Amino acid sequence: MLVVEGGHPLDGVVTCSGSKNAFLPIAAAALLTTEEVTVRRVPDLADVRLILNILKGLGCEIFHDRPTSTVRIQARELPLGEAGWEDVRKMRGSVYVLGPLLARTGTAKVSLPGGCVIGQRPIDIHLRGLQDLGADVAIDHGHVVASVPGSRLRGKHLYLGGPSGSSVGATGNIMMAACLAEGETIIEGAACEPEIVDLGGFLKAMGAKIEGLGSPRICIQGVEQLSGCEYEIIPDRIEAGTYVIAGAMTGGRVKVEGCEPGHLSVLLARLHEAGVPLEMGKGFIETQSFDAREGLRATDVTTLPYPGFPTDLQAQWMALMTQAPGISVITEKIYPDRYMHMPELLRLGAELRRQNAGTAIVQGGKPLSGAPVMASDLRASAALVLAGLIAQDETEIHRVYHIDRGYERIEERLGGLGAVIRRESDPWEG
Ligand code: EPZ
Repeated sequence: MLVVEGGHPLDGVVTCSGSKNAFLPIAAAALLTTEEVTVRRVPDLADVRLILNILKGLGCEIFHDRPTSTVRIQARELPLGEAGWEDVRKMRGSVYVLGPLLARTGTAKVSLPGGCVIGQRPIDIHLRGLQDLGADVAIDHGHVVASVPGSRLRGKHLYLGGPSGSSVGATGNIMMAACLAEGETIIEGAACEPEIVDLGGFLKAMGAKIEGLGSPRICIQGVEQLSGCEYEIIPDRIEAGTYVIAGAMTGGRVKVEGCEPGHLSVLLARLHEAGVPLEMGKGFIETQSFDAREGLRATDVTTLPYPGFPTDLQAQWMALMTQAPGISVITEKIYPDRYMHMPELLRLGAELRRQNAGTAIVQGGKPLSGAPVMASDLRASAALVLAGLIAQDETEIHRVYHIDRGYERIEERLGGLGAVIRRESDPWEG
């Protein structure tokens, strides 16, 4: 567990890691070639180890050099073609192996990811997209079983939107599959997230022909084969945003270096509206010290696909708004049930309530007081750590393994900024 002693002002510099959600599909894309790929700036996270383990299970050779944050992957042969429930249930991002495996070998068997604490997360759009490219897809005993009837998938003009707009995962999966398909694929309703642009950059470095990255219309000319490459992934915008919010909550001066402010435009605009003084420049964002209790203003957000407010920063924003006097409204349009952090923030003394589907109301401005709380998912746990930074006395965050999925050594990073935070063995686990 993490134990956070609240009330210590933050001041200092923290360096952003590489993006977890960019690395996961990029690692899966290594399945598209027999040659070795080298990926730099890979964060040292539980989810990274999981995807590498899945790739190893499929037959890849993996070399992970943690001191240099470098991963080399070579998928010389893929004899197994199957990613099972044991691995896939631990991380939904493992579904990214489906498209590349199918495109490279003509068959794939991947366990259905199933439910998740942040709400329903179907993969129907992924499957529809692969069917559009000519694959036979069936669900059999909890697995997606897919095969290519001819020798290759066939390019197609297809629409990939779903009920909540574009899908990051489906866009990534179909983009990867289409790179080796015969002819042209045009994806309408494509996700515009920086992680998808980064995946596209990696595929282009492998020799793929892709245009329109970052727009809702992506065109891919299939090629017969792809080659190895070297690539450095983008900074993690959600990690950066979390540390910026930590600075804002505590009224501290926190400089997040090695990030891309352009990927966080909506967060920066909302922080400005919320009265948080900020400076930014090439590769950095810095909160300026201010009296957060006096200066924070209640500010509404609605989560939306990029460039809208990221759902992955919604919980952290709620933690911030508990300190802004007045009422703020949070509307979650991607995962309407992604509010598992609310009961835990209530235990710290926050005033919050759910309105109708997807909406939460925060009555901010009340001091929080430390208590034992339970992390339910990655971003919810980050929100609890943030709340702990300003709560009176100690906050114990249990089930902290969630946070290790997406934040590299968070206690060291926050400790370096002046937070008093320690990791202890968890009497509730094991
Ligand atoms: C990615 O998940 C991220 N994960 C999530 O980050 C992030 O919250 C999400 O995108 C939205 O930004 C990774 O990149 C590994 P989607 P993904 O497909 O790709 C619905 C974190 O904390 N949908 O864009 O699974 C879906 O239910 C994680 O790091 C379908 O209906 O998200 C949701 O409402 C959590 N059918 C919406 O679309 C489908 O086939 C967007 O989901 C696929 C999605």
